[in-house]
Amino acid sequence: MIGYAFCGSFCTLSASLSALRGLLAEGLAVQPIMSAATYETDTRFYPAAALREEVETLCGRPIIHTIVEAEPLGPKTPLDFLIIAPCTGNTLAKMAHGITDTAVTMAAKAHMRTGRPMLLALATNDAMSANLQNLAALSLRKGVYFVPLRQDDPVAKPASLVADFTRVGEAYRAAKQGVQLRPLFL
Ligand SMILES: Cc1cc2nc3c(=O)[nH]c(=O)nc-3n(C[C@H](O)[C@H](O)[C@H](O)COP(=O)(O)O)c2cc1C
Repeated sequence: MIGYAFCGSFCTLSASLSALRGLLAEGLAVQPIMSAATYETDTRFYPAAALREEVETLCGRPIIHTIVEAEPLGPKTPLDFLIIAPCTGNTLAKMAHGITDTAVTMAAKAHMRTGRPMLLALATNDAMSANLQNLAALSLRKGVYFVPLRQDDPVAKPASLVADFTRVGEAYRAAKQGVQLRPLFL
């Protein structure tokens, strides 16, 4: 069983859902996880209830969306692998600083205790400003892999980086072998 966690980068949710469908088509069993922001927030990109229903139908399992539900995802009921797609700047910064106050950061903390790998599909417009040090910190952490990133709009959003969500499956398979896909920056 792998974990697939969604954070509140609402404009990338549909790209992430396509990646999730690809993993499910490979026959993977997937435990969905959501931050409270993702689980509860209606945006112009997705009504929260529609997102929840789509994800639970796809995965055939209820979404883990509280810290209490996520806490056992370590030594007690381990996941083989954890994918966070999308990973917000907010969640990246928390993981870099050991802050655990959402279901996703709790799942990541519990999971990393077991020494198993984690893949991040980052999408944030402060990746190369406020979050640059957090990106560096996590890229140096053992067992943490990134989906290759690109500058989605270097003119209007000069500090923004967004993962290439079409490569989540490829990055997952590489990470399972202990390999970071490169180039990391497209
Ligand atoms: C419409 C909308 C789009 C957003 N897109 C992003 C995004 O692409 N990347 C990001 O890091 N934060 C984005 N945010 C901000 C996050 O949702 C916010 O930081 C939230 O606290 C993230 O919580 P989480 O990391 O626990 O999911 C967006 C917010 C809104 C309302």
